[in-house]
Amino acid sequence: MQHNVLILDFGSQYTQLIARRVRELNIFCEIYPYNNPPEDLSSFKAVILSGSPFSVRSEDAPHPDLSEIRGKKPLLAVCYGAQYLAHFSGGEVAPSNIREYGRANLSFIKEGETFFENVNVGSQVWMSHSDTIKQLPTNGVRLASTKDVENAAYRIEGEETYAIQFHPEVYHSTDGKQMLENFLVKIAGVEQSFTANAFVEEIIEELKQKIGNDKVVLGLSGGVDSTVAAVLLNKAIGDNLYCIFVNNGLLRKNEFESVLHQYKDMGLNVKGVDASARFLDALAGLDDPEAKRKTIGRVFIEVFDDEAHLLKDVKWLGQGTIYPDVIESVSVKGPSATIKSHHNVGGLPDFMKLQVVEPLRMLFKDEVRRVGKTLGIDDELLGRHPFPGPGLAIRILGDITPEKVSILQEVDAIFINGLKEHGLYNKVWQAGAILLPVNSVGVMGDERTYEKVVALRAVESTDGMTADWVHLPYEFLMKVSNEIINKVKGVNRVVYDISSKPPATIEWE
Ligand code: XMP
Repeated sequence: MQHNVLILDFGSQYTQLIARRVRELNIFCEIYPYNNPPEDLSSFKAVILSGSPFSVRSEDAPHPDLSEIRGKKPLLAVCYGAQYLAHFSGGEVAPSNIREYGRANLSFIKEGETFFENVNVGSQVWMSHSDTIKQLPTNGVRLASTKDVENAAYRIEGEETYAIQFHPEVYHSTDGKQMLENFLVKIAGVEQSFTANAFVEEIIEELKQKIGNDKVVLGLSGGVDSTVAAVLLNKAIGDNLYCIFVNNGLLRKNEFESVLHQYKDMGLNVKGVDASARFLDALAGLDDPEAKRKTIGRVFIEVFDDEAHLLKDVKWLGQGTIYPDVIESVSVKGPSATIKSHHNVGGLPDFMKLQVVEPLRMLFKDEVRRVGKTLGIDDELLGRHPFPGPGLAIRILGDITPEKVSILQEVDAIFINGLKEHGLYNKVWQAGAILLPVNSVGVMGDERTYEKVVALRAVESTDGMTADWVHLPYEFLMKVSNEIINKVKGVNRVVYDISSKPPATIEWE
């Protein structure tokens, strides 16, 4: 069993970052909302309290009971957490009369403190708070200050309790990761054993125990998450894993055949279901983006349910859910989100009544990729750009016809292959082409043309929440544009999307 670290979330925008930094140290950790902590704390070797948008002085601020934690386990309180400890333990927290936001430098560090080993005076830290600790709590020992923040860090004498008002998890805190390592490894003695290899070994064993000889059905999408989930399950239960890969007719050019082939080469027990006609029939005449999405979702469920029925005695539904989705559903802001799924069970398709198994539910995206690499999954598959579930349907503005799908597939293939050939694919987070619902005038030879316009989109991002357009070389854009107009019948104009998100979105619908 891995050593585990508990992160209690008070709703800070940076809580996920704390978890990522801890994982970068090869230490396993889990985030729990402060108002719904784990019942059994025995597996946690240390606890971190996150920041919060609240002020400790406000009545509706989180005021958790820490009696099972404080003094009993090594505790690191960050920002709000540090103020919370001070406020309720004999210290004083008050509004700051100067702005304590942004970069600051440690001007004082107490000598000989393990927490600050390998951190020097002058080290940059990131502050983000409007309250400040005026007076330390009882038995508090000041460990560090900045020019404006006297009590930037403290510990409590006689306890393994540490508190810092700055954010070690934010990249701008240059030695933040070192401090987290000092606290977790040197002070709390947590093992740095959470590696991709260790995860793979442990999860395969766990899946074997959990599933035994039962059958599992899983929908593959061609993306990284469902593929890695499938390979893990396949290693655990072999051919009792039944994968279904549905062609909704809205995939990239040749994607269905080539990905299906790759899956078979990987030894997966996979059935390809070509339901293109069913999807395209259902979409005929629809031009509202949400109506298109809903229709695709509904037909997918129908197709998947039909296929799942053909398998006898299936007990489990495998899914490629990853940690950010899990945290989202239990966050401080939205604890109600998880409650709803238990209603209407009678109305759900049969496969949705299966027990759910999610091998990746504790991993971040980059960890999923590393696990995939450990499992020997092809780099090309692991490095694929994200592709939306509704596929090209939301890149064909307006109604969808088979002809439009085929035009867009050709354009998209030229763009994506071009990115690969010019060594640009891996520098881009996501790319694709959009078919616009307008015709424009052009001239080809002596002929006047009146044909379709396509837009190319390539963005940089880390999670899709924000994005910026990529400054692709003009030379490259010129080549791709020429190739598209020369080769794809029905297109006479190519434009490049130079909008960032926000205010635009990545997809056009
Ligand atoms: P937007 O357009 O919201 O996209 O900036 C952010 C990311 O989400 C993907 N996306 C979707 N993925 N179903 C999906 O599975 C959808 O309906 C959907 N809409 C957008 C988009 O490709 C980008 O990566």
